[in-house]
Amino acid sequence: MTLILGIESSCDETAAAVVVDGRRILSSVVASQVDLHAQYGGVYPEVASRAHVEAITPVVNQALKEAGASIHDVDAIAVTRGPGLAGSLLVGINYAKGLALVSGKPLVGVNHLEGHVYSLWLTQPLQETTFPVLALIVSGGHTELLLMHDHGQYERLGGTLDDAAGEAFDKVGRVLGLPFPGGPNIQKSAEKGNPDAFQFPRGKRDSSYDFSFSGLKTAVLRAVTVSANKSTKADAPVSEKNVVLRSGLNVSDASASFQEALVDILVEKSARAAAEYGVTEILISGGVSANSRLRDEMKRRAGLPVRYPPINLCTDNAAMIAAAGYYRFMAGQRDDLDFDVLPNWPLTRGMYG
Ligand code: KG4
Ligand code: ZN
Repeated sequence: MTLILGIESSCDETAAAVVVDGRRILSSVVASQVDLHAQYGGVYPEVASRAHVEAITPVVNQALKEAGASIHDVDAIAVTRGPGLAGSLLVGINYAKGLALVSGKPLVGVNHLEGHVYSLWLTQPLQETTFPVLALIVSGGHTELLLMHDHGQYERLGGTLDDAAGEAFDKVGRVLGLPFPGGPNIQKSAEKGNPDAFQFPRGKRDSSYDFSFSGLKTAVLRAVTVSANKSTKADAPVSEKNVVLRSGLNVSDASASFQEALVDILVEKSARAAAEYGVTEILISGGVSANSRLRDEMKRRAGLPVRYPPINLCTDNAAMIAAAGYYRFMAGQRDDLDFDVLPNWPLTRGMYG
């Protein structure tokens, strides 16, 4: 039995968890900063690192306590090394280094995106997955389409060229006057709306596996708002700062139509990649994988099994870091106490090498 303590602080959640053999969660504690950032309509990096500093000690202590374990019982400490906000990542890494130093436990740096993929291993029945599988990671900071050949073996097929899927949800949510974060609130609003009310563009509908959501975001902005500045010409670039919602606009219709366009392009490219590479299943992870329309459409159109994590493991948590860390630990990875954060760390082939 291998016990991993996971620590995550890459964005706006301070989290710690204890996981057995990369699969069974003994504890998973998440201190969310959503309320703190809601007033800014997005994550404010300096506020985030300060909040991590305050939360990290109680969060780690609670995770160990709920697991009925002490730091001396764990086999390794897995911590998010990147990608993410440098100042936020540093808080988790420095804390993990301190713990490793006093306890003598090995330290394992984990890629946050890989963590999202491994959130699936925390829920899957115990039989092994047959590789290759297709992994679609859709979060507030990332949209990545990967072919996973084996544990730690990734081939990047494509990703977003501009906004991440979750970022598009958050920005459109802000335009529609919905609370932060936009994703869950747009989904809720869309339940009462007509997805065909607006015909929004599907960006990069081409043979690549890349995505583009900024055109969709601008199209929504243009369709649902009028310029508060009367002198602005009809074809001038629109800016979130200088618009008001059209009077009589049905926000639910706009939400449903936007969600439909975004889901359509994600599903279209994922299903095509799955067929081209002959994968056994599709794994969706990251905050946007909580979206029920995305889940339903992927299941309906993919033509093969689709897996996604339970809602509490879609958004950032440390159980997924412990799960990914377990496979790295078993593959022999050990990091020195002087290792640094990697804010732009891509997920590439041969992560254990
Ligand atoms: O994975 P995550 O916690 O953060 C990053 O690693 O970036 O994802 C947060 C993102 C936010 O953009 C949020 O709006 C989105 O996930 N999200 C959703 C839903 N729940 C969260 N997007 C669409 N539908 C949802 N139900
Ligand atoms: Zn994330």
